[in-house]
Amino acid sequence: MAELSQSVRLEHDGDVALVVVNNPPVNALSWHVRQGLFDGMAAAVESGASAIVVICDGRTFIAGADISEFGGGAPEAAGLHEVQAAMEDAPVPVIAAIHGTALGGGLEVALCAHYRVALDSAKFGLPEVNLGLLPGAGGTQRLPRLTGVPKALEMMTSGRHIGAEEASACGLIDEAVAGDVDALRAAAVAFAGRAVAENLPLAKVRDRDDKVAEHRGDEQVFADFRASIARKTRGFLAPEYNIQCVEAAANLPFEEGLAVERRLFGELMTGPQSAAQRYYFFAERAANKVPGIGKDTPKIPIERAGVLGAGTMGGGIAMNFANAGIPVTIVERDQDALDRGLAVVKKNYERSRTSTPESVAARMALITGSTDKADFADCDIVIEAVFEDMDLKKSIFTELDAICKPGAVLASNTSALDINEIASVTSRPESVIGLHFFSPANVMKLLEVVRGDATSDEVIATSMALAKTIGKIGALVGVCHGFVGNRMLFQRSLEANSIILEGATPAQVDRVLYDFGFPMGPFAMSDLAGLDIGWKAETSTGDTVRDLMNESGRKGQKNGRGYYTYDPETRAATPDPEVEAMIAEFAAGKGHEQRDVTDDEVLERCLYAMVNEGAKILEEGIAIRGSDVDVVWVNGYGWPVYRGGPMHWADSVGLAEVVEKVRHYAETVGGRQWELSPLLERLAAEGGSLASYSN
Ligand SMILES: NC(=O)c1ccc[n+]([C@@H]2O[C@H](COP(=O)([O-])OP(=O)(O)OC[C@H]3O[C@@H](n4cnc5c(N)ncnc54)[C@H](O)[C@@H]3O)[C@@H](O)[C@H]2O)c1
Repeated sequence: MAELSQSVRLEHDGDVALVVVNNPPVNALSWHVRQGLFDGMAAAVESGASAIVVICDGRTFIAGADISEFGGGAPEAAGLHEVQAAMEDAPVPVIAAIHGTALGGGLEVALCAHYRVALDSAKFGLPEVNLGLLPGAGGTQRLPRLTGVPKALEMMTSGRHIGAEEASACGLIDEAVAGDVDALRAAAVAFAGRAVAENLPLAKVRDRDDKVAEHRGDEQVFADFRASIARKTRGFLAPEYNIQCVEAAANLPFEEGLAVERRLFGELMTGPQSAAQRYYFFAERAANKVPGIGKDTPKIPIERAGVLGAGTMGGGIAMNFANAGIPVTIVERDQDALDRGLAVVKKNYERSRTSTPESVAARMALITGSTDKADFADCDIVIEAVFEDMDLKKSIFTELDAICKPGAVLASNTSALDINEIASVTSRPESVIGLHFFSPANVMKLLEVVRGDATSDEVIATSMALAKTIGKIGALVGVCHGFVGNRMLFQRSLEANSIILEGATPAQVDRVLYDFGFPMGPFAMSDLAGLDIGWKAETSTGDTVRDLMNESGRKGQKNGRGYYTYDPETRAATPDPEVEAMIAEFAAGKGHEQRDVTDDEVLERCLYAMVNEGAKILEEGIAIRGSDVDVVWVNGYGWPVYRGGPMHWADSVGLAEVVEKVRHYAETVGGRQWELSPLLERLAAEGGSLASYSN
């Protein structure tokens, strides 16, 4: 055995050389791995080996690039392209032996071996698109040559990982092996022996042409593919650039295709979208860390959960537990409401694409319905999801305090109410926390974890860990009206509603925010949620546009009439002149002069009001980090990830510019939302950043 670098060594098995990578935890392509692989090819040949196996220690093959080197700063070492050329040009067969995952740069290395042998549990993928990039080490040109154009398009634009069976079927690997890493090593060495004995060609993927030739000049296959992903990838640059690379692979010689890949990679790498997506990748990881709460903070084991209320939120929350294999008891106020709630849960399961009657039955078996809160007695956590009413929540928490076992987590799914006030009615405020799910609760990734003044570290640690267990992204926030997400949303709604009194139409506001990258604008969203939610005829003052809409029977999508009218068949929305006239008349009555409002003003007022509020949230210590605010907005409210989140976006616009505009609207529009945040003002003056601000 010989050390080739700090993380790569050379071994021999008979006359087969093994170049073994050992760079925990995931064998990322750090500079010393690249140098070791590069030197390993020459050293193996020099040692007289008849073939070379590239294999990894630990739990995985090379899982991808070393993202800590993205900002530069690594010592001089062989580049990835040099490593790849050394493998492809080796005078003896090179076999990649793959276990765990071969992703991104890892797969691009494997694509430069002459043959690929993998464990049947291995996974393969090019996930660069998720960071706003494309595989920049020849992957875009080699993958389609092995798998064909349609498969490569699908893998590269989705970033999806495929299993060994699928990889075998599409030609990505040459052999799949059952068993463990030792079995893989033995199979790869045996494959190498066969390659030598049978004089198999030194097959370079770059020279393969049959599969790409099938679609040469075939514009239709690309047009169809673009259409098929258009909705999902709207606004993103990287999927389109990945497609253009595959087009180049189909239509151009290898080297020319590589040049296209290099050019488009450079554009993405230096562009704002990938910068935002890479920033966001780290933001999401950081959100899980809570200062002062380490790995050693004790957690309460959650073996049985309770949910109170089987309405819109309660049913979805319960599904999260059942999906994670945790038994859950749902309590409703009467049998009818319980039956209705459970029926919706069942229907949701049945509607899932991957469901079978057995899987639905298995999930439903984990959910127990009841009308008696006493059934919460043995639950480790109870999440309350009843109506948004403080008195009701207080009376419920008084009961839960009496029923639940000592140490159980008592959580509220309130959207905005004061967790401290709710906790104050219990004898154990340290056990009380807000767990704010988003609708639909079984789908949306965000979980705002709201710490009260008395909430214990144990309960916070338990809640953050629970978020992970049930597949959510937890962000820890403090108590204030609406927490982080809704508090900022309120500012946006305020502006959206005042701007339509000044002459913008709901359709204009929605279009501007949709074009910015939100899935829908605020008025379309209100129509979808239902304009009548929380509205009562008896208490309506006729003082808002929403009051007027409700008074004229406009409830939103549910009755086909809201800010838009909806086609009963297709549900397509059309702006309604009647609504616009109603708003104009209402505005005139309030003394607002109508004028042309520019799209720029719509965007600035809706978004800068949010940014200013986000800065206030940070200076009050309600969010731990600026990046947590972004995690809330990307996961909970559809902020386009290619713009990073409101804090990152404000940084990219320039905080000085944002401050100038906030001051401008403070003068021209006024209102609390335009009172400039001192933190924003200070950061702008210092050249600081909201996204990297941390408390
Ligand atoms: N809907 C959303 O988008 C959303 C998002 C996040 C948080 N929330 C919050 O979640 C909570 C529930 O909202 P929702 O939209 O699910 O409301 P909902 O009206 O759909 O459901 C509330 C359910 O609670 C039940 N309930 C009321 N009082 C009860 C009692 N004393 N005992 C047992 N069950 C009782 C009702 O029968 C009803 O089924 C609210 O606090 C709301 O602010 C809602």
